[in-house]
Amino acid sequence: MSDASFNRIMVTAALPYANGPVHLGHLAGAYLPADLFSRFQRMKGEDVVFVCGSDEMGVAIMVRARKEGIDPQALVDRYHPMIEEAFSGFGMSFDHYGRTTSPVHAETSQDFFRTLARKDVFTLRTEEQLYDPEVGIFLADRFVIGTCPVCGYEDAYGDQCEKCGSTLSPRELINPRSTLSDATPELRETTHFYLPLGDFQGRLDQWISTKPDWKPNVLGQVRSWLNDGLKDRAITRDVPWGVPVPTDVAEELGIDAEGKVIYVWFDAPIGYISDTKEWAIKQGDSDAWKPYWQADDTRLVHFIGKDNIVFHCLMFPAMLMAHGDYTLPENVPANEFLNIEGDKLSTSRNWAVWLHEYLEELDPDLLRYALATMLPETKDADFNWSEFQTRVNSELADVLGNFVNRTLTFAARFADGQVPALVDPSDADKAALEELATFPERIGKAYDAYRNREAVFETMALARLGNKYFNDTEPWHTRKSNPQACANTIHVSLQICAALSVLMEPALPFSAAKLRGMLKLDGVRSSIPGGEAGSIGWDDAAKPLLPDCHTLGEAGILFTKIEDDVIEAQKAKLGAASDGEAEEEAAPFEPVKDTIQYDDFAKLDFRMGTIVEAEEMPKSKKLVKTVVDLGFEKRQILAGIKEHFAPEDLIGKRVAVVANLAPRKMMGTESQGMILMAEDREGALFLMGSEGENGSVIR
Ligand code: MF3
Ligand code: ZN
Repeated sequence: MSDASFNRIMVTAALPYANGPVHLGHLAGAYLPADLFSRFQRMKGEDVVFVCGSDEMGVAIMVRARKEGIDPQALVDRYHPMIEEAFSGFGMSFDHYGRTTSPVHAETSQDFFRTLARKDVFTLRTEEQLYDPEVGIFLADRFVIGTCPVCGYEDAYGDQCEKCGSTLSPRELINPRSTLSDATPELRETTHFYLPLGDFQGRLDQWISTKPDWKPNVLGQVRSWLNDGLKDRAITRDVPWGVPVPTDVAEELGIDAEGKVIYVWFDAPIGYISDTKEWAIKQGDSDAWKPYWQADDTRLVHFIGKDNIVFHCLMFPAMLMAHGDYTLPENVPANEFLNIEGDKLSTSRNWAVWLHEYLEELDPDLLRYALATMLPETKDADFNWSEFQTRVNSELADVLGNFVNRTLTFAARFADGQVPALVDPSDADKAALEELATFPERIGKAYDAYRNREAVFETMALARLGNKYFNDTEPWHTRKSNPQACANTIHVSLQICAALSVLMEPALPFSAAKLRGMLKLDGVRSSIPGGEAGSIGWDDAAKPLLPDCHTLGEAGILFTKIEDDVIEAQKAKLGAASDGEAEEEAAPFEPVKDTIQYDDFAKLDFRMGTIVEAEEMPKSKKLVKTVVDLGFEKRQILAGIKEHFAPEDLIGKRVAVVANLAPRKMMGTESQGMILMAEDREGALFLMGSEGENGSVIR
């Protein structure tokens, strides 16, 4: 395996918590980019191992299981297969998909822990923590509730009051009680292992400075953590669910490991290594994982969402450095967040697109392609169903599908279903083939640099080239006037189709295979593990792939258009209660804003009013145009409430209004004030009517 002609690439995608199904936010953050990258590199002929698995330990799993009244094991046993199946339906090309409850993982993470402990990397700290004497365990912050010392709310959590937003520590709570038993917790001493990240600050700083090419959004976060100074992190917990702290090293250090587990953010990234070991065992060579993790020339790439940056860019690298046997990541191309239809993704409000539900109704390739065009690569991005429809209908169907269909139909009718020879090519024929030759590199460069939006844009550019060439050479005319020119058009168009069937493989793997079937193009290297070796790889797509007289298969439809009602049905699912899914935890209350002085308040002029007119603002998704009677005058006020109220229901409603807000224009129309609303934690809006004539002052 020392052939210098290929690179060894270790690809990981964040291990999803097995406490719920996978949604579009997950796909956009880590999974689609990781799969595009892995498939592209395999097509290039690189030596790729791509692993992932379910993150099954940790408090998130425990909390969810308690809420459903089941064992953590039963919870992960439900979600692990569900996640794995959805990933497979979406075309995730993992070499291995594991789980952190596996014996290999327990051993791997304990070995890692043991090595660091014996190298004296950890520090130990003994502290008093709350202990549930009835259940017999120490209580994680979330398992203690009590009265908030700041606002008096009686059900504040040990780490935060959801009423006033104050950050708390469990010991500050008044009348604390255990959520497990209702018992009053006692303070007991417990000792924990800490990873002294501060000791690694210099080395991490130095290492990060060798990565100027990392994405700015990633470097920005990393630099800000480094500037703040890295703090020690406890990497053990006293909870009943997790990988047990190895008793041998604990004893060596004089610590009772009973009831202690390894913190989930310590064991989960080691899960990548465990998954690679399991892959190696599956290959029948249990050492095969080693070069992927330990050789200096391995490209280790972690695909994650932005909420995981600190763990992958600082904490896990520090662990790897401390261990000594491992290579460090070459890149961590984290993506930002994906909004849905202009709103923050929220699983508790079901403002999410669930992958398993999508796959029941629509084709995986359509989502792979459309989502790739909307990835939050440099900043948060928005997924919306109308754009999805446009991408499918006017790009996949009208450009790519149409081009393939025209070409194959012409070949069937006017070239006996074979590849005609190219004879005396015109300038247009030559120019098209020359341009075709540039695409493997153009698209490939973008994939290799994690610019997936650009890569799929360039892929579609090749289909556009084909379509334009076909139009410009007008084979429907030359068919009679110049049959050789017509044959040449068919030849060149078929070569473009063949190149597409290779170059669209990362983004559209199912359709690419279908297209190769129509072309009867064999020998293309597979982009999935264990697939055909194939002599035709990525770079070969620069040259004509179909020999003269090659017999083609049947023309078929590659993509069908999506009708409006399908899109409407998808939109209607957003925010609707999902069937059978257990309710998630309520969203937190919004924290109270900074204190203001009375003078600040006194500047505001609130009045009672009555809405006397209301109509939708044309072309606006959100705005309703109202006229509010304030007694002394009528005001035109625009309110962003179209998704919440029908205009006709607003007429006659009493409302509170900010009467001295400077007028401002929205979509060319002036708004002369603001209607006050109460917004609850789920985002529902309520008007605030009251007694009192119009114009009454509210104070
Ligand atoms: N389960 C974590 C999350 O969903 C990600 C774990 S990534 C790993 O945020 F590196 F720890 F595996
Ligand atoms: Zn409070």
